[in-house]
Amino acid sequence: MAEVTLENVSKTFPGGVTAVDRMNLTIRDQEFVVLVGPSGCGKSTTLRMVAGLEEITAGAVSIADRVVNDMPPKNRDIAMVFQNYALYPHMTVYKNLAFALKLRRMKHADIDKRVRDAARVLGIDDLLDRKPRALSGGQRQRVAVGRAIVRQPKAFLFDEPLSNLDAKLRVEMRAELKRLHHRLMTTTIYVTHDQEEAMTLGDRVVVMKQGIVHQCGAPLEVYEEPANRFVAGFLGTPPMNFLEGKLVARNGNLYFDEGSAVIRLAPEQEQMLADRAGQDVVLGIRPDGMATKPEGRFSGEENVLPATITVIETLGQIMDLHVTTPQHPYLVARIESQRELKDEQDIKLYVDMAKTHVFEPGEDGANLTVGAHEKMAMA
Ligand SMILES: Nc1ncnc2c1ncn2[C@@H]1O[C@H](COP(=O)(O)OP(=O)(O)OP(=O)(O)O)[C@@H](O)[C@H]1O
Ligand SMILES: [Mg+2]
Repeated sequence: MAEVTLENVSKTFPGGVTAVDRMNLTIRDQEFVVLVGPSGCGKSTTLRMVAGLEEITAGAVSIADRVVNDMPPKNRDIAMVFQNYALYPHMTVYKNLAFALKLRRMKHADIDKRVRDAARVLGIDDLLDRKPRALSGGQRQRVAVGRAIVRQPKAFLFDEPLSNLDAKLRVEMRAELKRLHHRLMTTTIYVTHDQEEAMTLGDRVVVMKQGIVHQCGAPLEVYEEPANRFVAGFLGTPPMNFLEGKLVARNGNLYFDEGSAVIRLAPEQEQMLADRAGQDVVLGIRPDGMATKPEGRFSGEENVLPATITVIETLGQIMDLHVTTPQHPYLVARIESQRELKDEQDIKLYVDMAKTHVFEPGEDGANLTVGAHEKMAMA
């Protein structure tokens, strides 16, 4: 087991595309870190540089305190699991699992023990004589993971290992991978574009866009205190709503002027934004930060957004209201289900300011209220 460190690591491909731009990241010994971001943001390239499958343009990758930039993949003692599993089709499951150990000329009895241990952990002990084509997708996935486990490497690298599975199986395998990590505690770097997978699996998540790390932290930390608008919009379903508007000072208080409605900021937010009155900003509101009734945390009389329902999506206990305001045509409020709501109904949305953030304008605009959430949660 080992720590993996990236220091100012960049990758520019021959055509001139910079896939990874001066990335700094330390994955601690035994840690499970997830790289997440939209397609093309450089996740796989990062992983492949750690594995040694891709040359590093600049910077240094270290594994267990040793710079490995020029070390061939087979000497790095890490195991990678790919999306397509890459099993040997003509070999049985047993042989697939044993293959890498045979190459290392490990003793037959030791190989057998490792293969059977891994198979037991993964619940595939009764499949050892089958060939990959006679397995389901989930079983193949387990074999692919098993091949990584038997090697007892310093670190696991996973590149979207669950994306070929159907939704239900993905969730099951996700939990299984988490259990496996608790058991083995092997340093793991896991790549996905699925923010839910990232949040549920990672000790820490690293949110990337266009080769740049935008934020790195524990899942809840990144969710509750996003560094900027990109991160805020990427994590969470339905995504955060963004309203463009202006800060206005009135009677010693600070308000967000949405254009058609004015919302009072929380005292913790006012403090942080006091010298920004008059400036254009973006208010981010989580869908579950709005309710149609002024109850509990939604009771602020000045935290109200009048809106019109366009679509109601009933999900059971909760429903998503798609609403418009004269200024903002696409907002989503996730509320507890109510039978009496109708399409085209005019409603008032009561906003829980603890579920809001104020950003600078622009798609990557910085969060100007980092830390306010925590203060509000404690208040
Ligand atoms: N061999 C290559 N030559 C040139 N450009 C490449 C090469 N491999 C990747 N790229 C580019 O580098 C960028 C990052 O690609 P990468 O595969 O790392 O993205 P990703 O985050 O894994 O995306 P996805 O979620 O779609 O797998 C992309 O713009 C991609 O087109
Ligand atoms: Mg990829």
